[in-house]
Amino acid sequence: MNLLKANPENIRKAAEIIRQGGLVSFPTETVYGLGADALNPIAVSRIFEVKDRPYFDPMIVHIADISAVHDLVTHFGEMAQKLTERFWPGPLTIVLEKSSRVPDIVTAGLDTVALRMPSNSVALDLIAIAGTPVAAPSANPFGYLSPTSAAHVAKQLGDRIDVILDGGTCPVGVESTILKIDDTPRLLRPGGLPVEDIEEVIGRVEEGHSPEKIDSPGQLPTHYAPRVPVRIVEDIYFEPEESSAALIAYKTPARELTFKHIEVLSPDGNLRDAAANLFSCLHRLDSADVDIIYVEAVPETGLGRAIMDRLRKAVAGKSH
Ligand code: TXA
Ligand code: MG
Repeated sequence: MNLLKANPENIRKAAEIIRQGGLVSFPTETVYGLGADALNPIAVSRIFEVKDRPYFDPMIVHIADISAVHDLVTHFGEMAQKLTERFWPGPLTIVLEKSSRVPDIVTAGLDTVALRMPSNSVALDLIAIAGTPVAAPSANPFGYLSPTSAAHVAKQLGDRIDVILDGGTCPVGVESTILKIDDTPRLLRPGGLPVEDIEEVIGRVEEGHSPEKIDSPGQLPTHYAPRVPVRIVEDIYFEPEESSAALIAYKTPARELTFKHIEVLSPDGNLRDAAANLFSCLHRLDSADVDIIYVEAVPETGLGRAIMDRLRKAVAGKSH
């Protein structure tokens, strides 16, 4: 079995596998990643194969030490420095102009690279011991839900990767926030760091992508989708038409409901807990033999933006 407990000995083994061009799934504070040596194009190409990921979708490069940035970008400006000082290690990915050291396969031919320093100690040790930046998308088949436990990874990709380091469940539960740092900073993906926190440090952040160009396939409407159709509802107090409907409620419902399965994201209605539980609820219900998953809308502030973004993409994934 390639599922290993993330103790120091196994982290060393996994780092050696990365050094030799292998693939390692590792925990981060957001979701599990599927990592390879970012400076080894052949190793990186294996990630695309295993995930069945289109080659136009660039990857995030993970580092364990801020000094690693300088080698990977042409210019590490004041705004990037401020943000990384404040939020790294943590769920913020910044997109900057790349240096020639970053292989084109990592960035899908773009002239920018996405960088992140995760705050999980297993991830940091793995990257530091491997001694190289680690390219890692989320460890799921392309377009499917991200994994927030080692069991999710084992189920989806277990037989296709060299090692899965089991470091427990991911406390943030949604992927990192992606910010492109240009003259004006732009939010490419809402995520585990609320955009409000970023704006406190650098002021106004532009929304989304420019209409003529998709910068980040995380922005494609059909991402993060379970197999079962998903519908977002504002009001959960109704009788579902389907005989086997499931409900993901934001907080504990105030009265009895007739759904076949009910999951509660956060009993007391707290966005942090809701984000942490979102993907595992969807994973559970996706294997629970139901026809439809209704999900209660959450308030769209703080982490609620990342939650609603993932839910809308889950809906779009099934409607066409
Ligand atoms: O929390 C996370 O970010 C997780 C953990 C493992 O770090 N990773 C993750 O990776 O979510 P992935 O590949 O599933 O999503 C990364 C997103 C993709 O939508 C990709 O298109 C975008 O980042 N991206 C990567 N490089 C980019 C670039 N140079 N410009 C714009 N978008 C980029
Ligand atoms: Mg992903």
